[in-house]
Amino acid sequence: MRVGIFDSGIGGLTVLNCLIESYPNNEYIYFGDTLNLPYGTKSLEQLREYADKIINFLISKRVDIIVIACGTISSNLYEEIKEKYSIPIIDVLTPTVKYIKENNLNNVGVFATPMTIKSGALNSVVNNSISCPLFVPLIESGKINTKECDEAVIDYLKRLGDCEYIILGCTHYPVLEKVINKHSNSKLINMGQCVSNYINISNEGKLKVTLYFSLLSDELLKNISTIIKTPYEIKQQVLSN
Ligand code: DGL
Repeated sequence: MRVGIFDSGIGGLTVLNCLIESYPNNEYIYFGDTLNLPYGTKSLEQLREYADKIINFLISKRVDIIVIACGTISSNLYEEIKEKYSIPIIDVLTPTVKYIKENNLNNVGVFATPMTIKSGALNSVVNNSISCPLFVPLIESGKINTKECDEAVIDYLKRLGDCEYIILGCTHYPVLEKVINKHSNSKLINMGQCVSNYINISNEGKLKVTLYFSLLSDELLKNISTIIKTPYEIKQQVLSN
């Protein structure tokens, strides 16, 4: 089976990782729109344009299913996207909300991008939400083990207040898991894990991972290698209208 996955940058690789772990015998085609990141502060019109281009690109690669590995696109556009395309499309929020409800989790907070928080898509399952605009630029520039990153984590945790669980409501944030755990005892919810529990795909081929990015850099290549541990092929692909 061919699985298409996309995000603004390396964040969706945390979802890809979970899928590879549960379904290693598939072909995965990933698109990271590094040319246009971050998505979390863009307008709805811009997000719609980016998502449409990427979905059409993945369809042209003959994928059987698409996973929107981006909280921002999922929370703002999933219903619309699902209606628009005939191919099966899965988002990251539906499986996450299902997981929280099925497990009766209480005292849940969420860290997410400004646009995800603004959408209110997780309001039915969370007690408190904080938008974390500093996280994606820190992660994409590889500044995870810096004082700046520690300070941002401490500040967002303080603003969120005490929570038993924290949803990492942006797929980039699992990259900060260790840093967050250093400063908090809350249990972290990784949306990629919720997706791989929820999705039902076959597992009968051979693992092949192809990563497309709209802008490649040395920093990006380094960051990717710290997240994806299986072999992959990497390509630059600019999407035109
Ligand atoms: N990783 C994406 C998300 O889950 C996009 C973050 C961004 O580019 O701001 O929201």
